[in-house]
Amino acid sequence: MFNELAEKRRSVRVYAERPVEAGKIDAIVEAALRSPTGGARRPWAFVVVTDKALLKELSAAKPQGAAFVKDAPVAVVVCGDPSASGLWVEDCSIAAVTMQYAAHALGLGSRWAHMRGNTFSEGTTSTQYIAKLLGLPENLAVECIIAIGYPAEEMVPYRKEELRFDKVSYNRYGQKKA
Ligand SMILES: Cc1cc2nc3c(=O)[nH]c(=O)nc-3n(C[C@H](O)[C@H](O)[C@H](O)COP(=O)(O)O)c2cc1C
Repeated sequence: MFNELAEKRRSVRVYAERPVEAGKIDAIVEAALRSPTGGARRPWAFVVVTDKALLKELSAAKPQGAAFVKDAPVAVVVCGDPSASGLWVEDCSIAAVTMQYAAHALGLGSRWAHMRGNTFSEGTTSTQYIAKLLGLPENLAVECIIAIGYPAEEMVPYRKEELRFDKVSYNRYGQKKA
């Protein structure tokens, strides 16, 4: 049941040394390839990285907030082609989150490391740094990196009382459920 999965999902930053089975990686990628896109344009491209040295270099793509990528056994670099669709950000985001839920459904953990709009260092964007590292073609921008692995930290699911039901209206903004 999807709702049970959603109830338990939390982002994971610490991963076990254990490698992720190739079949599970394939299933996660397939889920992304089945994700909805505006106008069915599929403006994304995914680079699945398992090479330890590359993972370490990817974790340096921005000064903060991506260090955990180096300790993950797998990272999927989610790229989009802005010239292929004005909705590439949405499409990449949906594919990324689809992979996160697919990973969690397979007993894995994941975390998003954001890249779009970030810089590696002065004058070099995170996309430029990653493009050089992975040999991306010029038309691609990097939305994010999804780190995936067996969790080595326990993240407590949100309790229902913590959820922001105050942000939900019915029929008209601000109107509560009857
Ligand atoms: C659009 C987006 C960008 C994010 N960027 C980062 C990031 O750069 N680094 C990071 O450690 N976590 C990042 N996260 C993970 C969030 O920090 C995490 O989802 C948030 O703290 C809520 O925790 P939860 O996923 O366990 O509910 C990102 C998540 C989203 C959806």
